[in-house]
Amino acid sequence: MTTDTTTPAAPTPGAAPTTPVLEATGVTMRFGGLTAVDNVALTVNSGEIVGLIGPNGAGKTTFFNCLTGLYIPTEGTVSYKGTVLPHRSHLVTQAGIARTFQNIRLFPNMTVLENVLVGRHTRTKEGLFSALIRGPRFKKAERESEARAMELLEFTGLAAKRDHLARNLPYGEQRKLEIARALASDPGLLLLDEPTAGMNPQETMATQELVFAVRDQGIAVLVIEHDMRFIFNLCDRVAVLVQGKKLVEGTPSVVQSDERVVAAYLGTPYEDAPGAEEAAEVAAAEAHAGHTPTTAADTPPADTDTPGTGTTGTTDGAGTKGEEQA
Ligand SMILES: Nc1ncnc2c1ncn2[C@@H]1O[C@H](COP(=O)(O)OP(=O)(O)OP(=O)(O)O)[C@@H](O)[C@H]1O
Ligand SMILES: [Mg+2]
Repeated sequence: MTTDTTTPAAPTPGAAPTTPVLEATGVTMRFGGLTAVDNVALTVNSGEIVGLIGPNGAGKTTFFNCLTGLYIPTEGTVSYKGTVLPHRSHLVTQAGIARTFQNIRLFPNMTVLENVLVGRHTRTKEGLFSALIRGPRFKKAERESEARAMELLEFTGLAAKRDHLARNLPYGEQRKLEIARALASDPGLLLLDEPTAGMNPQETMATQELVFAVRDQGIAVLVIEHDMRFIFNLCDRVAVLVQGKKLVEGTPSVVQSDERVVAAYLGTPYEDAPGAEEAAEVAAAEAHAGHTPTTAADTPPADTDTPGTGTTGTTDGAGTKGEEQA
């Protein structure tokens, strides 16, 4: 069951009109018998920060992989600014979509600056020949790339570490470096897969500010996160994936108060949920046997700190998966 509870925001007088940047329709991804993403539609408009949440294994990363050409979806189409995207990740980057990964992917033995320069290669025209002879045109392009990379390091607060090896950066800074590298391709849409995983509350707050700053530069953002406080503070709209299907979409306040979302996270069946009848029978049998059935009241509310995770307000009780399928 999918309910789109999105209420279009009233246009602000004088504000730039919002246009769709990303339009995904009917995206389905099957792995053998498993439907990891099931007929998902999602739009991200210019100027928006949209959140994608859902329990572990809900299909969030798989959906990102379908958007970015890493996977060829079994069904559905993905358009960027009105043009259907090819199923090739470098062409998707060239079109204007950049991403970071759930499991950090940097070149650990390259410097911070070099990592960002790698992210710029889709925007540089100089070919191999020009690079080999290192003529004046190549040198000019190289200087320009370096200047842009340094701007991005300033923007993400990493300029002082430009010559450090990526592997020597603390974890939070490695995540920032991934964002800087993604921005180096001059995207119109940035996809972030769990950008605050493993961060402390201060780092999470700094990341929130960074994402707002990215949006203020005219880049739309689609972000996956388990930290609900982060998501609900940050996003204009939130979509919830459960077992590959989009369950609810709406403003943070609509999504937070939807009983199906609470149920999806806490495992409590809502009225008419698939399997609700069976769960009620189990609860009745347990009560009869003298067990106390688990209720939502036994589980901390969604925005409560989970001790030991190092993040704030996470509902990711099971923790995030160590492995990503890309
Ligand atoms: N390449 C693949 N082959 C087979 N199954 C896959 C593959 N990639 C993902 N899956 C399965 O698809 C489902 C969705 O996985 P996905 O990683 O997209 O979830 P997720 O919502 O990102 O979860 P998490 O919050 O833990 O990161 C899981 O059951 C996963 O095992
Ligand atoms: Mg994931």
